[in-house]
Amino acid sequence: MAEAKRIDGKMLAERLRDKVAEQVRALKDLHGLTPGLAVVLVGNDPASEIYVRNKHKMTTHAGMKSFEHKLPAETTQKELLTLIEGLNSDPDVHGILVQLPLPDHIDEQAVLAAIDPAKDVDGFHVVNAGKLATGADGLVPCTPLGCLLLIKEQLGGDLSGKRAIVIGRSNIVGKPMAAMLLRENCTVTIAHSRTQGLAEECARAEILVAAVGRAKMVKENWVKKGALVIDVGMNRLTEDADGNSKLTGDVDYDDVKKTAGAVTPVPGGVGPMTIACLLKNTVTAACGLNGIEAP
Ligand code: GUN
Repeated sequence: MAEAKRIDGKMLAERLRDKVAEQVRALKDLHGLTPGLAVVLVGNDPASEIYVRNKHKMTTHAGMKSFEHKLPAETTQKELLTLIEGLNSDPDVHGILVQLPLPDHIDEQAVLAAIDPAKDVDGFHVVNAGKLATGADGLVPCTPLGCLLLIKEQLGGDLSGKRAIVIGRSNIVGKPMAAMLLRENCTVTIAHSRTQGLAEECARAEILVAAVGRAKMVKENWVKKGALVIDVGMNRLTEDADGNSKLTGDVDYDDVKKTAGAVTPVPGGVGPMTIACLLKNTVTAACGLNGIEAP
């Protein structure tokens, strides 16, 4: 059998960002509206700093306003909540993202709950999670949205009746991913650390999404012949004595490519789609807040 197709997430993300930039131009021309995204970073986690810098770059590149709020690690929860209140009432801000993880002294749930659900471009607010779970329109988390767009692109849009398995049950990826696939009429299994016979469960699925955070866990014999494999893993493996690290997925790519029909690589698969979907969500939020039909 031929080797699996390597899905080019970078290229698809670039296409999506171009589409978003076009929508931003149209919103400016037709409605005098420039979507704005506020990103809040507390502390100086190096990985988070890179993400936030990238978000800023891509937001301005798409023609949107970008508001960066970098706060010291000692910021109190009260100070952070006051900032969020201000962003909630700022008419130039349509999307609010508080970069996670937050320092230990801050209650993450309290912060996420303070964000106006209409501006919650991360889709983490319980109102948006509830809307997704009940099938109502709302803002949905960016990483699973990016995965869904990749899946639809590969399988031609209609996912009805497909067997899908999601490994991982986080609120950020696993649970919303499962809800989105269910909304597309897939038959969905959610697997996790307590699942028995995980390899056999996986081997029945036509769509496999791995979001567990365990490097190279998914092997060739876990994958049905011709299946689509989406790797959400972002595991940093230390490579040498100097502490250089390499980004590695949850899927053993070189092994799985022998059985799968198509696989997303890490890096260059799901990652670039996440930021592109954040921009897409910001346009959706800007339209929703201004009573304009989302493009
Ligand atoms: N940290 C890692 N991934 C994410 C994400 O998708 N959103 C936010 N806010 N923080 C993150």
